Amino acid sequence: MSVNTPIRRQFSTLANSMKPSAIRLLLKVANQPDIISFGGGLPNPESFPIEDIRKIFDEQLSKNGKKMLQYGATEGLDSLNVALSKMLLEKEGIKSEPTDIIQTTGSQEALYMLGKIFANPGEYVITEAPTYVGTISALHGSGIKIVGVEMDHYGMRMDLLRETLKKYPNPKFIYVIPNFQNPTGITMSLERRKELLEIASERGITIIEDNPYGSLRFAGAHVPTLRSMDRDVVYLGTFSKVLSPGMRLGYVVAPSDVKEKLNIAKQALDLASSTLSEYIAEAYVSGGYMDKQVPKIIELYKQKRDLMIESFENYFPKDVEFTRPNGGMFLWVTRKGANTDKMFDEAVRQKVLYVVGSAFYPDEDNHESMRLNFTYSTNENIVEGVKRLGKLFELTSK
Ligand SMILES: Cc1ncc(COP(=O)(O)O)c(C=O)c1O
Repeated sequence: MSVNTPIRRQFSTLANSMKPSAIRLLLKVANQPDIISFGGGLPNPESFPIEDIRKIFDEQLSKNGKKMLQYGATEGLDSLNVALSKMLLEKEGIKSEPTDIIQTTGSQEALYMLGKIFANPGEYVITEAPTYVGTISALHGSGIKIVGVEMDHYGMRMDLLRETLKKYPNPKFIYVIPNFQNPTGITMSLERRKELLEIASERGITIIEDNPYGSLRFAGAHVPTLRSMDRDVVYLGTFSKVLSPGMRLGYVVAPSDVKEKLNIAKQALDLASSTLSEYIAEAYVSGGYMDKQVPKIIELYKQKRDLMIESFENYFPKDVEFTRPNGGMFLWVTRKGANTDKMFDEAVRQKVLYVVGSAFYPDEDNHESMRLNFTYSTNENIVEGVKRLGKLFELTSK
């Protein structure tokens, strides 16, 4: 081959159909000066326990340095799985053996692997509509179809799920985010959770429960997880929102046949998660640091949610509706008849960013909403950003 011959690269059909996520694109604009971004799903860095991690890191390096810097087992550090099993029982009433757990490189890896092990390209799964954009990317990236079921203020609508199952009777799984859902902030009611379990068990459908925000509750009573009511549920947790997303550490509690398949899939993907992160997480959970950290995050986020809602009340036109989440990191803002995709260029000119609601719909056909993150911005920017959004709504009023 001559050195000058240009390579005519041919990518796979899947690679050619992939689109960059709306949020990744947005992060590029978010770095411009003066921009106030409610776009990303970032925890507030003020909450990161830097000194605790420094201390734990040092201790663990001295105690376990040779193992901590080595490859680890695919299912993760045994002692962390023991600690997680204990924590899940205490906090969520989830009964599990440490051997039911596999650690993952963030829940994002778990979502990707679950798509791969359950569905062939062209097959379908059911999710809430809207749903987490990373789940849409992970599943679409594997050629899996997503059928969305609309939500109301109590979570996925079970009447619509029953209707959907008539048309799509064999979904490979039903994926839900019952607590402080990303993107809406909505929590699924206990009645809906029970009905969902009933519908799924009648038909032998696997449920995947993704619970990254469950421990970040600022108000209202705890609602039992699906997994605590049914051992067949595949449960996803992560350290990203309660410790640090930089550690890239999540976990799955799964029935043994599912865990076995995840283990094989993970060997091909990344062999194992970060041993370094696993040792730190183990010391963090077992040393009682988590119990100190979570209330701090809750206090910080509650105050920011209250400020954002107060600012909506002060600066939004009266026909703009919004959710009032009892926890988590996101709010969902809707204006009937609006088109938040079309408003976006003006939003950039007004120097305020949101994520367009359409990004969270598997078929992208809903344009009246936007997702706002209330945890990342300073208090000053929350007020100023909402003022700018209020102006944007006035400028783009129907
Ligand atoms: C619902 C949901 N699932 C999974 C993830 C992925 O989290 P991570 O990979 O950082 O654990 C996120 C992150 O925002 C999320 O909101």
